Amino acid sequence: MADTPESLSEEFSTFSTYTKTPAQALDLIERARTKCPVPHSKELGGFHIYMNYEDVRRGLMDWKTYANGPSVLRPYIEGSPVFPPLSMDPPEHTPWRKVFSDGVNIRTADRIGPAVRADAIELIEGFAEKGACDLHLDLAEQVPMKAIFHILGLPREHHERVRSMTLNVLAHVNQPEQFAKLFQEFSEYGWSEVERRKSDPKEDYLTVLADARFGDRHMTPFEVGAAVVSLLVAGHGTTTAALTNLLYEVLRRPQLKQRLIEDPALIPKAVEEGLRLHHPFFGLFRKATEDVEAHGAHIKKGDTVYMCWQAANRDPAVVDKPLDFDIDRPEFQHLGFGLGKHSCVGAPTARMEMRVVMEELLARLPDIELAEPEKVKWDFHGAETLGILHLPAKFASRPRRAS
Ligand code: HEM
Repeated sequence: MADTPESLSEEFSTFSTYTKTPAQALDLIERARTKCPVPHSKELGGFHIYMNYEDVRRGLMDWKTYANGPSVLRPYIEGSPVFPPLSMDPPEHTPWRKVFSDGVNIRTADRIGPAVRADAIELIEGFAEKGACDLHLDLAEQVPMKAIFHILGLPREHHERVRSMTLNVLAHVNQPEQFAKLFQEFSEYGWSEVERRKSDPKEDYLTVLADARFGDRHMTPFEVGAAVVSLLVAGHGTTTAALTNLLYEVLRRPQLKQRLIEDPALIPKAVEEGLRLHHPFFGLFRKATEDVEAHGAHIKKGDTVYMCWQAANRDPAVVDKPLDFDIDRPEFQHLGFGLGKHSCVGAPTARMEMRVVMEELLARLPDIELAEPEKVKWDFHGAETLGILHLPAKFASRPRRAS
């Protein structure tokens, strides 16, 4: 039976990333783009959905009408942690944004680039002898967390401890009581490192936190903890998912892989195409601060609006053959790193990490291929994230090489 605006509205009424698989969600969106462009779901407290590129782009730029606070996730649980600067709006957002952009910016990629390359080499050489690896667990999940430790300026001997503290904190984001306890421990650790930077400044994020001022005061231990945890929340899972997705798309295309081996200067194009086609967040939520009319939908002040990045980046109105992974397509401003006031401060760093991992992997293991491409699964993992959790690969085993 053909889709009608009414039948699509009905289907969307139970839509969320908790009730659908990614394939079901994308199929429904593709069918609805023109017939039902701003549907409404009753799930997660109720929300309107922006899915077309122009609607999402305009929504992201108009921070006055579409607020990030009190949270970009739904359902909003009273007492849940507030992640600065993402869950804030001006004027509160402004000084926090400055802290983050002082600590992570266009220069960061150059500063930590050599350390990220060394990490990638160490990890790849670590599994080279085995002839097999899980590219998600053994590589893509590891490089971005180590990169954040380099941004922070943590000594190497602290990495393991902070890694387990981090994973523990992030695993309890939706359990406010436990989160508060683990967060306290994390804040105390961060604070002690920040205190050290006051007498021994370095070129790192912890020194930015040591120098940061809100009006005429320094940051509190709680604020330091929030600034560190937020960086990990924003920069780890996102880059990990984007990297795994990119490895999947490249390695399942032997001809493309060969092109990138022969001409590594094309790798940044593959990175952009990966970010366009597979965003680590399906979307994030906003709160309307006034009544809005959008394609006939009545959005009331206080209503929730879902900005669906994944759908916007695949909008056939702005991208030719949007489902193809095509590194030769004309340059396109995908919304992968957001836009406007909340645009991603870590974009140059994430792009660098993805490029460096791809360069080292293809140079060191040029025969690498996916072990079971047909079994690879994209899934939602809560908090609007999606991606692949296992990416087994194989290659001829060879002795470990020095860097
Ligand atoms: C491929 C990896 C990444 C993707 C796809 C990504 C995507 C995004 C997006 C879409 C936003 C805007 C969210 C919104 O408007 O609601 C954002 C914000 C942010 N990102 Fe990233 N990000 C990535 C990596 C990173 C990294 C590596 C860092 C830091 C080390 C980082 C730090 C941040 C911060 C702090 C914000 C909040 C900015 C603000 O609210 O003013 N991100 N990111």
